[in-house]
Amino acid sequence: MSTISKILITGGLGFIGHHLAIKLSKKGHKIAVLDNLSRPNIIINKSSETKKKNYNWEYLDEFYPNIEKKIFDIRDKEKVANLIQDFKPEIIIHSAGQTSAVDSIENPSFDFENNMIGLFNVLNSAKECHFITDFLYISTNKVYGNNENDISLVEGKTRYIPENKNFKGFSETSSIDHSIHTPYGISKLAGDLYVQEFGKIYDMKNTVFRLSCIYGDQQFGIHGQGFISYMFLNASSGKQIQIYGNGKQVRDILYIDDLSDLIERYLSKTSSLKPKIFNQKSRVYNIGGGINNTISLLELVGRFESILGKKLKLEFSNWRLGDQKLYISDITKIYSDIGWEPKITPELGIEKLTKWIETNKNLFFN
Ligand SMILES: NC(=O)c1ccc[n+]([C@@H]2O[C@H](COP(=O)([O-])OP(=O)(O)OC[C@H]3O[C@@H](n4cnc5c(N)ncnc54)[C@H](O)[C@@H]3O)[C@@H](O)[C@H]2O)c1
Repeated sequence: MSTISKILITGGLGFIGHHLAIKLSKKGHKIAVLDNLSRPNIIINKSSETKKKNYNWEYLDEFYPNIEKKIFDIRDKEKVANLIQDFKPEIIIHSAGQTSAVDSIENPSFDFENNMIGLFNVLNSAKECHFITDFLYISTNKVYGNNENDISLVEGKTRYIPENKNFKGFSETSSIDHSIHTPYGISKLAGDLYVQEFGKIYDMKNTVFRLSCIYGDQQFGIHGQGFISYMFLNASSGKQIQIYGNGKQVRDILYIDDLSDLIERYLSKTSSLKPKIFNQKSRVYNIGGGINNTISLLELVGRFESILGKKLKLEFSNWRLGDQKLYISDITKIYSDIGWEPKITPELGIEKLTKWIETNKNLFFN
């Protein structure tokens, strides 16, 4: 991607999508974002009235007017095909979707339609177009399900610890079945396999990034998705923090700037490769903070308490279905392929995110 590319980002007004749009636009690429605005990213409570707005839309309008916005639903096959024909992207990043595992249990058919039919429409249209060189699918660690049978854990004071001292995270060859995934995990996994399969049988240059927990500024966490941002919002507004299970669940966390750097770097290294060379290796990658950037919920609460200088009220309830006691990405494959590793530690990232929320409190609490 040394030259200027045209890039279509689905879900491009969401948290990850709009950060990618900005990063790639700053590098000079021509970007279009496609979104149906189903995830309003500000919920303003003004006394009894609740307003929903799309902050990312307004932000891009003001600071990045060159980024084109296309507003419709990826479930609309014809509109997707027409947009691809008109805009003629060389690269598609598919980030749109229903993102909450909790909501997918409540409404599996909505999840299925958004995540599977939506993905299929975009992928199948891309397959028809000779001008598209690369397709990047934003997948999730939830494809591995609750991974209970794959690791033995010891319960420490604030977190679960792998019994195997040499554990360096879950690799891309970890089992994807024999566990509970939630419908969200399944719809993302089905999309993930479709993307891999189309790469193999139609000679497309398809990549799958299975993300762990991504966090950062301009993330509007909600119940069931974006837990770091959601928990801090509650903590700083004096609300009780809800913990499902015992709070010792461990995640590797990755700041959004590190993810944007990675994607820009990956595309610039791979988009000029011919399909034969590109597809000589598997293009599925686990992406996250890795073994050096982990935190448990209880540790996160401790960090918030020191930032806010007060004790937080916690309420514990039952474990959520499919919750992983420990998920850490093994990021050695992406490191060995393109030399990327995260730079932003949890300490720094949490400080950046909480500062952004504190500075922008009027978006949430006025
Ligand atoms: N944030 C994370 O920690 C994380 C972790 C693993 C995987 N992911 C994956 O990354 C992707 C982006 O997540 P995010 O955190 O930016 O979530 P997000 O909700 O902020 O962004 C998703 C965007 O997709 C749009 N969208 C949803 N359904 C659509 C449809 N049918 N048509 C058009 N647009 C639609 C939404 O309006 C939203 O703007 C998702 O696919 C998610 O599964 C995210």
